Amino acid sequence: MDVRVGVIGVGMIGQDHIRRITQVLTGGSVTAVNDVDAARAGQVAAGLPGAHTHDTAAALIADDEVDAVLVASWGPAHEEQVVAAIAAGKPVFCEKPLAPSSAACQRIMDAELATGRRLVQVGFMRRYDAGYRAMKATLDDVGLGAPLLMHCAHRNPSVPDYGFTTDMIISDSAVHEIDIVRWLFGEEIVAASVLTPRRTSHAPDGLQDPLILLLETASGALVDDELFVSARYGYDVRGEIVCETGTVALADVSEVTVRTANRYSGRVPVDWRDRFIRAYDTELQEWLDAVAAGTCTGPTSWDGFAAAVVTDAALEALHTGQRTAVSLPERPEFYAK
Ligand SMILES: NC(=O)c1ccc[n+]([C@@H]2O[C@H](COP(=O)([O-])OP(=O)(O)OC[C@H]3O[C@@H](n4cnc5c(N)ncnc54)[C@H](O)[C@@H]3O)[C@@H](O)[C@H]2O)c1
Repeated sequence: MDVRVGVIGVGMIGQDHIRRITQVLTGGSVTAVNDVDAARAGQVAAGLPGAHTHDTAAALIADDEVDAVLVASWGPAHEEQVVAAIAAGKPVFCEKPLAPSSAACQRIMDAELATGRRLVQVGFMRRYDAGYRAMKATLDDVGLGAPLLMHCAHRNPSVPDYGFTTDMIISDSAVHEIDIVRWLFGEEIVAASVLTPRRTSHAPDGLQDPLILLLETASGALVDDELFVSARYGYDVRGEIVCETGTVALADVSEVTVRTANRYSGRVPVDWRDRFIRAYDTELQEWLDAVAAGTCTGPTSWDGFAAAVVTDAALEALHTGQRTAVSLPERPEFYAK
């Protein structure tokens, strides 16, 4: 039987997840939607045979026809909605960030710990990207020696002229590298520094772009992350890990390359949806499969919390110009692999 999903927040990514559950993936259906924008919720439900709308997130979570909850509302709403799903004993997929502050993430963890049952998966979709998975398998299986360095780049063609702040380059963009570095290296990040190079003339007013974020892992590996959100030419995510006896890097993602007139070219993705579309598909398919099997896999509340704590340190480093230690408490045994 299909996992019956209730979706809270049917904006851009909520609608995209509904499309994949109903048109791309197997084993799931969308039975209920909720949005503070009731008209939008109604429009989305109208395109979903058998689905109904709820006036509140709480009513959706309580719905007997909802087996599992997908939270794709704005970050500040996540805590209340995820905690309510936990209280109802329903598996919940929460888009990143788990919550905007580490204190709120801690409260979500506390609620989950109190149930004694893992219910929360956080939407760090890069862990489902074929390239990053191959990179991790290489690190784990091939024997390149200890990882020493990682070079990352996270380039967006542009960001909106209004409303996108320099802090968001850390909290919205770099948070993906923060999670993927923790996952690839299998260890925590212990310090962050931020460098502010020459500013591009293409950045919206007031935006310090690009930034270089430096992350130090517990074993002493150093990660440099170039964040450049006004890069114009396309959406380009790069990663290379330098180990003692070799390196492993993400390959270019162009399906074909063209050689003509003494030139060589390939395709650069248009945006993050284009680049990571298959990762989102795999992420949600594995969530549906886990829910159907009565298990919970993927990034945990602890991962959401740890990413928030590192983000806080990186923001402090951005504001002070100082290397900032990450003060992460001991991971509860409950979240051990
Ligand atoms: N994993 C990723 O790469 C990725 C990519 C994009 C967005 N996101 C995350 O997904 C979430 C949504 O982003 P988006 O781009 O779809 O935003 P959006 O603004 O397009 O959509 C958010 C929707 O949530 C609704 N909403 C807000 N507060 C609500 C509440 N309290 N209850 C019910 N509905 C509420 C809004 O009305 C809106 O329709 C954010 O947390 C964002 O960070 C993750």
